[in-house]
Amino acid sequence: MRDLVQFCDDTCWDTKGDGALTHDVESVVEHGGILCFPHLRFELTDDEVRLLDAGVADGKAKNISLRGANDEVRGAAAADADALRSMIRRYRTQATALAERLFPHYRGHLEPGNPSYRPVAVEGRETSWRKDDTRLHVDSFPATPSGGKRILRVFTNVNPDGRARSWRIGDDFEAVASRFAPQLRTPLPGSGRLLRLFRITKTTRSAYDALMLQLHDRMKADEDFQAHAPQTAVDFPSGSTWMAFTDQVSHAAMAGQYQLEQTFLLPVAAMSEPQRSPLRPAPINRSRSSYLPWRARPYLRS
Ligand code: SIN
Ligand code: FE
Repeated sequence: MRDLVQFCDDTCWDTKGDGALTHDVESVVEHGGILCFPHLRFELTDDEVRLLDAGVADGKAKNISLRGANDEVRGAAAADADALRSMIRRYRTQATALAERLFPHYRGHLEPGNPSYRPVAVEGRETSWRKDDTRLHVDSFPATPSGGKRILRVFTNVNPDGRARSWRIGDDFEAVASRFAPQLRTPLPGSGRLLRLFRITKTTRSAYDALMLQLHDRMKADEDFQAHAPQTAVDFPSGSTWMAFTDQVSHAAMAGQYQLEQTFLLPVAAMSEPQRSPLRPAPINRSRSSYLPWRARPYLRS
């Protein structure tokens, strides 16, 4: 397995301040590693400390998130919406500053997705197997397909009681994709447009998106894989920040409470080494999509 986690001493999000300023780390994340900053805290204001309470969630959604141009708050109890919006917005600003500082190659290309706050404990959360993030998976969004863009995510554990966010990290993407490739099917031509027409997706699901979503599902559904595939437990301490391409790094969140998260989409062309992406832009069969999981391709059946 690759080097899973590289630790960095940085204590500030942007270039100001005297923390060690990490750079040249694009290759770490592009090779499927996780960058972890054990001392990079997200400070809450005095007013925000009260948001460290699972009761600020509406009890239905998994996360509280900001949506749309007006940063509409989803998944929260109404009384706390304004305070949550302002906290999550500040997190987005800091996560963006961090990503732009660390990855000069990506500047101008990172598209922020919906940021989220996760105040509910991971343990004991009732959910379907498909939504169960305690099962190893790579990220793929069913309703908002990335269209082939990379999914780069920044996470910060803001637990006030010193509890870690405990993850399992799985094997290299290549190993996982090869294992599941025989079970994946390329979608019928035009099916992506139909899903959008019927509003099942908000953007068109490409062949790549469809395959990655199947990979996500097949991984989560496979009990033998969950129990026996190569994997490592990693604890991210409270007060730490970490980031990874979660469409590539198999991960499962096993325990913890109170976390902030910001997603960025990144076009493959903006990577330092685009060939490290789960997709490979050389068409094998021009009648289908030119974007299929690269190592998986020799095994694909239609
Ligand atoms: C996930 O992306 O699978 C969840 C990560 C977390 O909540 O720690
Ligand atoms: Fe995930």
